[in-house]
Formats: sequence, C-alpha cells, structure tokens
Amino acid sequence: MLSYLHSFHAGNHADVIKHWLLLECVHYLQLKPAPFHYIDTHTGAGLYSTRSFEAKKTGEIEQGVLKIPQQDFPELEVLWDAINDDLKQNHYPGSPLLVKRLLREDDKAWLYEMHPKVIGTLKDNCEQRRQSYVKQEDGFQGLLSVLPVKNARALVLMDPSYEIKTDYQHVVDVLSNAYQKMPQAVMLLWYPVVNRETIDDMERRIRRSPMKNVQLFELGVADDVQKGMGSSGMIIVNPPWTLAEKFKKTAEKLSLALSEDGKSRWRFEQLVAE
Ligand SMILES: C[S@@+](CC[C@H](N)C(=O)[O-])C[C@H]1O[C@@H](n2cnc3c(N)ncnc32)[C@H](O)[C@@H]1O
Repeated sequence: MLSYLHSFHAGNHADVIKHWLLLECVHYLQLKPAPFHYIDTHTGAGLYSTRSFEAKKTGEIEQGVLKIPQQDFPELEVLWDAINDDLKQNHYPGSPLLVKRLLREDDKAWLYEMHPKVIGTLKDNCEQRRQSYVKQEDGFQGLLSVLPVKNARALVLMDPSYEIKTDYQHVVDVLSNAYQKMPQAVMLLWYPVVNRETIDDMERRIRRSPMKNVQLFELGVADDVQKGMGSSGMIIVNPPWTLAEKFKKTAEKLSLALSEDGKSRWRFEQLVAE
C-alpha cells in the first residue's frame, strides 16, 4: 500500500540537492553526442502545483527552492534554467520532466511509477511515444530488466519513498546488481537522513559491495537529532569527474541559505575509489 505523495514535498531542500546534481549529470553526459537512456525508478507525477492543498499544507517549497536567492547562486544555473518558467506559472517540475525536456533525438527515458493516483498525471506530463516509456511497474525490477542498455550510455535515478524500512538495504542490493549488469552506468541514489545509523549502515554496505567509483554528496538544514529529515543526500556511482569540486565549492553557502538555524551542514565522501 503506497501512501507517500511527492506533491507534499516538491521543491523542498531535498529536491534542491537531488535535482541540481541530477541536472549536472545530464549536462555532463550531453557534452558527448553519443545517446543515453535515462532510467527513473521512482518518478512521482512529474509536475506539481506550488499552490495545491498539499504544497500549502507543508510549506516545504518556501523552505526549499524558494528560500534560495537565485542571484547569489550562479553555480546552480542548470537548476534555475530548468525550473524558472515553471515557477512563474506556480509549478515545480519533478525528476522525469526535468530530464525528459533535455532529451535529444536519440536519448530515451524509462519512467517507473507504481502509485495508482499518480500514474495518470505522469503519463499526461511525460509520456511521449518513441522517446519516453511510462510504466506502472516496480522501478527496482524495471531497472534490472532495462540494463544493460545496448548501443547507448545509461543514467539512473533511484529515488524511492523509503516507506518500507528494508528499502535502505534493498536499494544497495539493487544498485549493486545494476552495477554488475552495466558497470559504466552513471547511477544516482537519493537518501533521507531520518536516522543516522541507517545511513551509516548503508554506506558500510556500499563500501563492501563490488561497486567502484562511488561518491556521496549530502546537505543538511537541521541537526540529525531533530524529528524528521534534517539532511538528505545523493550517492553517485561513476559521477562526472567535475562534480565533486563543484559541490565542495557551493555546499557551504547553499546549506547556509537553506539552514533552519544559521548553521551549515554538508558532507562529501569518496565512498569507494575508482
Ligand atoms: C520521492 S517520490 C519521487 C520523486 C521524483 N523522483 C522527483 O524527484 O521528482 C517516490 C515515488 O515512488 C513511487 N513508488 C513507490 N514505490 C515504488 C516502486 N516500487 N516502483 C516505482 N515507483 C514507486 C511513489 O508512489 C512516489 O511517487
């Protein structure tokens, strides 16, 4: 039974780091003309109203993307370019739409979403014959069935709702299996820091896995001890080689802009060497 709806959270501080790094990866892949397939295992609806009942109820976008003074963050240009037209129309785009809009003629997208209330909107926002395939199927299984992609590169976003406690272990198993099917794929795993020990355990399991060249990027707005999600991060397999420096230069300033208490919190780790 799925209860998580991203419409309550779209544009929050976690979406900022997730969508910024995702877009950096897309732009990096597009430096070369060779096509890539984008596989989004947990897509959500693709586009959200910033004036919906859900958005107003949590107010998370005001504490997220709308809290950042854009003029002070030219480093996040790829994000501003991707969202500003939507923001003007009181919308915020999700991961499948952000990437779908950037696809070139030979690039493709595989979009997985299970929620019966979300799949119709996702199809309206993102389905496009020949180029994006929207599937109401389990994204973990979908990813493993699509890989290895033939005659193209692969970019994967795994962004589950972590409604099931075992998801924290399951994501590492799926990521490792996906890596064994296509070791050169660029794969991004989003995680929330709700309980720090769970994330420490996830990192240990990744370090012990067969995966190579894995980096961790994390940004926080509040201490771990507070209730809810104080920080969130992205674990990236085969990241663009330029990404770590970009992140390290911007993370302090960005976390301060989003912070609830004026304190900066961020982490970068090379979890597994190349
Ligand atoms: C955090 S949201 C995705 C947000 C989206 N990636 C973005 O950045 O805009 C997670 C989504 O995964 C969906 N979901 C949950 N379990 C799933 C599964 N096994 N396969 C595919 N989608 C699933 C939920 O219904 C929810 O819409």
